[in-house]
Amino acid sequence: MSDRANDLRLPPIIGHRGAAADAPENTLAGFRAAARLGVSWVEFDVQLSADKVPVVIHDRRLDRTTSGHGVVRRTPLSRLRQLDCGSWFSPAFVGEPMPTLAEALSEITRLGLGANIEIKPDRGWEAMTAAVALETAAAIWPEAAPPPLVSSFDRQCLAVARQTVPQWPRGLLCRSLPSDWRRAAEEFACASVHCHHRLVTPERVAAVRKAGYQVLAYTVNDRAQAQRLWNWGVSAVFTDSPGVLSPA
Ligand code: G3P
Ligand code: MG
Repeated sequence: MSDRANDLRLPPIIGHRGAAADAPENTLAGFRAAARLGVSWVEFDVQLSADKVPVVIHDRRLDRTTSGHGVVRRTPLSRLRQLDCGSWFSPAFVGEPMPTLAEALSEITRLGLGANIEIKPDRGWEAMTAAVALETAAAIWPEAAPPPLVSSFDRQCLAVARQTVPQWPRGLLCRSLPSDWRRAAEEFACASVHCHHRLVTPERVAAVRKAGYQVLAYTVNDRAQAQRLWNWGVSAVFTDSPGVLSPA
């Protein structure tokens, strides 16, 4: 392992979008659910509102996970704040707001969790999304806490992450391992490579680890599959169902 990868201390289970099977994804309630379920790190997705405030939501559009419609980047924060991000999931979460990145990080810090910030830019806003999100995060995140892991499918975002918060670890996020993964992981000085769990093989894990990077796999909601991946040398799996992967 490289020093960068060695310095990245991850738990075997990372809550995906909080704990997406137990509470509405990418909400403060979701982070609290993850903590209650014993998770010590959470992953979540960050985009920009129309007025360039980083907010926590996965889809480009509001329709699936909020009471609103339309595209996140065309909607100002004042409108995003009026949306209900919990009702679609369950009546128990009526009125759950869309967190800003600042609110998300404050709650995650309060809960004592680690954070994987996934930068999910809309097209044309790649560098700006990463820069604004990471400047915001750097102003909030406590120096004493383990630094967040910054990941993105978008390489411009990883380049900006390297410039903006060079001291924070970076993860090369992909579906399958791309043919140029070595070059990319080196270019962005990554600590880890994150792949879709169905596209992870023992050979790929061995190759990535040999090159000095940790391997993470998403999204694993089956205990036997998680165990298989850990046995192959995968450091951590992202799961919607922490309770299923680590039954009490
Ligand atoms: O970061 C791992 C995983 O969250 C990537 O896929 O679409 O769930 O953000 P997605
Ligand atoms: Mg994600």
